[in-house]
Amino acid sequence: MYKMWAVPGISSSSWSFLLVLCLVLKISVLSRGGITSSYVRKLQKSVDMPLDSDVFRVPPGYNAPQQVHITQGDLVGKAVIVSWVTTDEPGSNTVLYWSENSKLKLKAEGTVLRYKFYTYTSGYIHNCTLENLKFNTKYYYQVGIGNTTRTFWFTTPPEIGPDVPYTFGLIGDLGQTYDSNMTLTHYEQNPAKGQAVLYVGDLSYADKYPNHDNERWDTWGRFMERSVAYQPWFWSAGNHDIDFAPEIDETDLFKPYTNRYPTPNQASNSSSPLYYAIKRASAYVIVLSSYTACGKFTPQYIWLDNELKKVNRSETPWLIVIMHAPLYNSYEAHFMEGETMRVVFEPFFVENKVDFVFAGHLHAYERSHRISNINYEIVNKDCTPVRNQSSPVYIIFGDGGNIEGLNLDMREPQPDHSAFREASFGHAILEIKNRTHAYYHWHRNQDGYAVKAESKWFYNRYWHPVDED
Ligand SMILES: *[C@@H]1O[C@H](CO)[C@@H](O)[C@H](O)[C@H]1NC(C)=O
Ligand SMILES: *[C@@H]1O[C@H](CO)[C@@H](O)[C@H](O)[C@H]1NC(C)=O
Ligand SMILES: *[C@@H]1O[C@H](CO)[C@@H](O)[C@H](O)[C@H]1NC(C)=O
Ligand SMILES: *[C@@H]1O[C@H](CO)[C@@H](O)[C@H](O)[C@H]1NC(C)=O
Ligand SMILES: *[C@@H]1O[C@H](CO)[C@@H](O)[C@H](O)[C@H]1NC(C)=O
Ligand SMILES: *[C@@H]1O[C@H](CO)[C@@H](O)[C@H](O)[C@H]1NC(C)=O
Ligand SMILES: *[C@@H]1O[C@H](CO)[C@@H](O)[C@H](O)[C@H]1NC(C)=O
Ligand SMILES: [Fe+2]
Repeated sequence: MYKMWAVPGISSSSWSFLLVLCLVLKISVLSRGGITSSYVRKLQKSVDMPLDSDVFRVPPGYNAPQQVHITQGDLVGKAVIVSWVTTDEPGSNTVLYWSENSKLKLKAEGTVLRYKFYTYTSGYIHNCTLENLKFNTKYYYQVGIGNTTRTFWFTTPPEIGPDVPYTFGLIGDLGQTYDSNMTLTHYEQNPAKGQAVLYVGDLSYADKYPNHDNERWDTWGRFMERSVAYQPWFWSAGNHDIDFAPEIDETDLFKPYTNRYPTPNQASNSSSPLYYAIKRASAYVIVLSSYTACGKFTPQYIWLDNELKKVNRSETPWLIVIMHAPLYNSYEAHFMEGETMRVVFEPFFVENKVDFVFAGHLHAYERSHRISNINYEIVNKDCTPVRNQSSPVYIIFGDGGNIEGLNLDMREPQPDHSAFREASFGHAILEIKNRTHAYYHWHRNQDGYAVKAESKWFYNRYWHPVDED
């Protein structure tokens, strides 16, 4: 090899010049694809917080409501579903609520259920929908009427409109480790903290325990209450929420998840709690299920096809899709697991100019360029993703910090469609400003809550489809 250096007629200084030139070219070629962050992550194992941790404490008092959480209860944001668990006796299904500026206490009646999972029997799981709320209003609500009451509050979203600003927190694959607690804390303390959270699946990771120990669904519920009782989280289901365990005769899919986390699926005419849509401020959010059939003629396909026709970008300019398994991912972990859904649903996303597709599953962070891969037909050779300004940006933030730890191994070289990737835990924020502009930022945990690891302005695909790069 070194003989090359002695080619007659070319001085060694010309060679070093060529070498430098090659390096420069190589760097610029690589950077067309994107950036792989060189940030050095801490590599300790992620461990679950022990059962006696402060975050899992049972609230005091006889039959005290615990695991209180809320989510949107209708299509437009004038209803809220309140859920909570009591353990000593069923207690009351009533929620008392009142707006900040009113002494008038209103009452809503809910329902209660229990479920069994192998040798585990759940507490009394209540859910109650508060309806006909006023937009943009702070409400207090009280649960546990009769024995031990607890009071919480939330603020309803502003009325839907094309230029209504709104901020979403973006979190996924959280689990219940010390890292999960750090992610949640950083989200809560972020000066730009969201008004609601889009959650991309994999909640408690209870299925990592023998017989899917459902006590870990209860601890997760208690851990999360400090955020989810005060602002709605929009749930989507991950693989760790399936809880399919034929070895112990548990074959009812998503049993703990669907019994504990009701969604407003009927408001968007969905027959399954696993996929649904909501409008909020200037956004239309479509929640899909990576673990429910999506082929042509399946209920999810028919529903999505129908749902996309209802989107009116003059009313809700921002069209956001969330799911668990990413359609584009350049890490080794879960590589191409989203292909089944991509092949079927990606043409919908591009034709409808979806702004963002958010996913989790990968325990790391990755953001794509605007790309599509919809031209391939089995007889042609068009099977490479291409830049397309009609396409969504695909962002993976399954980096909440669960017991499985980080996915560190990336595929090399970084493919052209990948804009930025880094294997750190963290959370992200999407600040919608008006119909054209949204400011997005991702925060890795190690930097502290106020520091952005990356940030970017995004432009609406319907109103201002300008290339952000
Ligand atoms: C809890 O409330 C119910 C109904 O209000 C009542 O029947 C029951 O005696 C109460 N239990 C205790 C321990 O106070
Ligand atoms: C979790 O985070 C909260 C808020 O930062 C803190 O008060 C609490 O002690 C933490 N708990 C554990 C077990 O790390
Ligand atoms: C929630 O309450 C509704 C009735 O309001 C009921 O149909 C549904 O089964 C309940 N879901 C859960 C998960 O408790
Ligand atoms: C609801 O979905 C069914 C198919 O599941 C469809 O026939 C019906 O037209 C839909 N209704 C609305 C209002 O979208
Ligand atoms: C779309 O929304 C705008 C603004 O709310 C409204 O004026 C228009 O009639 C809607 N279009 C359709 C087809 O419903
Ligand atoms: C880009 O998206 C548009 C809109 O769906 C589509 O018509 C076009 O074929 C796509 N272009 C490429 C190169 O994929
Ligand atoms: C939309 O928001 C962006 C960012 O805040 C701002 O620069 C722009 O002027 C706004 N557009 C309108 C029409 O107000
Ligand atoms: Fe997952």
